[in-house]
Amino acid sequence: MENRTYIANEERYANSNLYQRCGKSGILLPKISLGLWHNFGGNDSFERGRNIIRYAFDNGVTHFDLANNYGPPYGSAEENFGRLMNEDFRPYRDEMFISTKAGYDMWPGPYGNWGSRKYMIASLDQSLKRMKLEYVDLFYSHRYDPNTPLEETLQALVDIVRSGKALYIGISRWPLEALKFADKYLRERDVPLLIYQGRLNMLDKAPLKEGILDYCHDNGIGFISFSPLAQGLLTDKYLKGIPEGSRMTHSKHLKSDMLNAELVEKIGSLNATALRHNTTLPQMALRWILEQKGVTSLLIGASSTTQLHENLQAVRNEE
Ligand SMILES: NC(=O)c1ccc[n+]([C@@H]2O[C@H](COP(=O)([O-])OP(=O)(O)OC[C@H]3O[C@@H](n4cnc5c(N)ncnc54)[C@H](OP(=O)(O)O)[C@@H]3O)[C@@H](O)[C@H]2O)c1
Repeated sequence: MENRTYIANEERYANSNLYQRCGKSGILLPKISLGLWHNFGGNDSFERGRNIIRYAFDNGVTHFDLANNYGPPYGSAEENFGRLMNEDFRPYRDEMFISTKAGYDMWPGPYGNWGSRKYMIASLDQSLKRMKLEYVDLFYSHRYDPNTPLEETLQALVDIVRSGKALYIGISRWPLEALKFADKYLRERDVPLLIYQGRLNMLDKAPLKEGILDYCHDNGIGFISFSPLAQGLLTDKYLKGIPEGSRMTHSKHLKSDMLNAELVEKIGSLNATALRHNTTLPQMALRWILEQKGVTSLLIGASSTTQLHENLQAVRNEE
């Protein structure tokens, strides 16, 4: 039956190897967390999304990452998540670590984007209503805003924590100098920065090269990698063309023109290395990230429970 009453797997915490401390905080995060950017919006199958989230939680994944504009349409991933909270997960709320973000285009006019106090606070209020939550565990500035004083965005985040609408603060895609400023500003106000979210994977090592990872590690801030499989490129699926239904066929964020001969060759060679080591490319790619100094967790996406199962093996097989 599709909409059966959900009872979580009693063995969900059996893999104690799954959790690690987020910087120098009290929070343990699963090494593999689930992001709802794609596959959970209003245009996707609700039941498939439900199955993926149930599968994740049943296997110890406690951290779920959203943003105001995840969908499409904007807001619909949070709405679907709110429905799941009501129908499946309310009894487990205190076992879940739920994040959302504001920073990108969300509603029309001058107050629905970037980093003003007005936008950040109004956006979180909207997110809480959609997700049917009283508070989120983690609220992020989704991107650096070069035109708003950093103090304004950061003070809004501090006030959000003091108001009880979020327990912790994170920033995503901020440059190193702005990260340093944020760290100092938040520390001085006793609302330390919990985590930095940045894109780190075998094809894009920017946070390593830019010193973001080192800074987080040295200053007790967690780091969580997004798009750890480069949106599916770090699998074998694009080695022989573009399969029907894959993200490249329907997402404006993964364009087919990037799939040139050089990239296919690079992925093919990584895939061959993985096979030589008796593993799969996604598993090798996820483990590579987790081996980097300072990484707490990574945020995978999944369009099926089969993918999630394969990806979770990356940490289950560890010694
Ligand atoms: N802070 C930011 O600005 C930002 C930006 C982007 C993402 N994020 C966060 O990071 C999360 C993950 O991003 P992402 O979805 O790009 O992550 P990803 O893990 O790099 O890509 C996920 C996609 O790869 C494919 N895939 C995953 N496992 C597979 C497997 N084992 N075999 C074959 N294909 C597989 C699926 O695509 P198919 O549809 O092709 O099956 C899946 O939807 C987001 O949900 C969001 O929470 C944050």
